[in-house]
Amino acid sequence: MTNVQTEYRPGLDGVIAAETVLSFLDTVEGRILIKGYDLIELSKEKGYLDIVHLMIEDSLPTDEQRKAVEERLKENYAGPKEVIDVLKLLPKDTDPMDALRTGVSVLGSFDGALDDRSPETNKDRAYRLLGQMPTIVANSYRILNDLEVIDPDESLPYSDNFLYMITGERPSELEADIFDNSLLLYSEHEMPNSTFTARVIASTNSDMYGALTGGVASLKGNLHGGANEAVMHLLVEGKDVDGFVNLLKEKLANRERIMGFGHRVYMKKIDPRAVQMKEALYELCEAKGDFELYEMCVAGEELMAEEKGLFPNLDYYAAPVYWMLNIPIEMYTPIFFSSRTVGLAAHVLEQHANNRLFRPRVKYNGEAYREL
Ligand code: COA
Repeated sequence: MTNVQTEYRPGLDGVIAAETVLSFLDTVEGRILIKGYDLIELSKEKGYLDIVHLMIEDSLPTDEQRKAVEERLKENYAGPKEVIDVLKLLPKDTDPMDALRTGVSVLGSFDGALDDRSPETNKDRAYRLLGQMPTIVANSYRILNDLEVIDPDESLPYSDNFLYMITGERPSELEADIFDNSLLLYSEHEMPNSTFTARVIASTNSDMYGALTGGVASLKGNLHGGANEAVMHLLVEGKDVDGFVNLLKEKLANRERIMGFGHRVYMKKIDPRAVQMKEALYELCEAKGDFELYEMCVAGEELMAEEKGLFPNLDYYAAPVYWMLNIPIEMYTPIFFSSRTVGLAAHVLEQHANNRLFRPRVKYNGEAYREL
């Protein structure tokens, strides 16, 4: 009865949805390639702004070019005042991801050249969004929690300022470096649900803000970006090593999913990004002289390997790292989105540059033709 020739793959598992030069999860070599560079090697030598230049301008920057990127982002820190006014109108129990979705959407109304999808204008937009993201993420949380709105501190590097706007405290060098590293690791990751969502929206010739607004909604879910917050709630509930292990055992016995484990592409291997964040967690615990959180995470990792043959993804170790950086739990997923803005913007640019409308078919399981 079918007139659709292709095999149905639930969740589009393994389906090639787009051609890209941006990134690739090479599971054979165990590498995350970003424009040909290994993300883990980049994370050891480079910073988030290097990735921004790499993704948008196609090359790693010289010192001067990195400075120019930073200046361009700083010029855009403030953004339209009306965005903050709109955020103030939201009910106080709004989820910060929903506030972010609204913020990104409202930004579109102040673009002034929304119909211009040329690469140069789209690049401009990407820089504007990247500049405004820390302000929206930090201040939407502050507004929802009746805290004072914080002005960006332009004397600080990009990631230091972002962390400062979140916590209200100037970060130490170690804290700022680890936060910057987490942004780099979250920046781009081939074709997760949010990237697919953004490309699908962009493929109708819709604009970058629309594509990213859809991306926020996608990333909110706990099977995707929302997992980092869910992991931290589990760790808080577990309280200590025994409590956490028992909690995970209980959930496994109830056939519940444990957030922070498993990945569609890595499947039964550890996410290489998680290894980096595990080391960062160790460093933060060492600096504090308290290894309990690290030990809890390692115990959970060992249990999941034994019981389920499942390994941590980035969210499993990013969550306790953010906890150690004194970041409120509800901000973990908005921060992930803020970092991923560069990846999503680059995918929208790529989609617009070589577009074919996404319009798949279905495997129809309904009634055959019925006469009225
Ligand atoms: N905890 C417990 N079991 C898990 C699991 C987890 N975190 N992840 C996968 N599984 C199990 C499933 O229950 C399923 O078992 P079954 O075949 O006995 O039903 C099997 O592994 C395959 O799961 P499936 O949902 O089909 O795989 P997927 O490729 O669609 O899932 C994820 C990928 C990421 C959605 C999944 O691993 C998950 O839900 N992880 C937790 C959420 C998370 O951390 N998300 C962030 C991803 S970066």
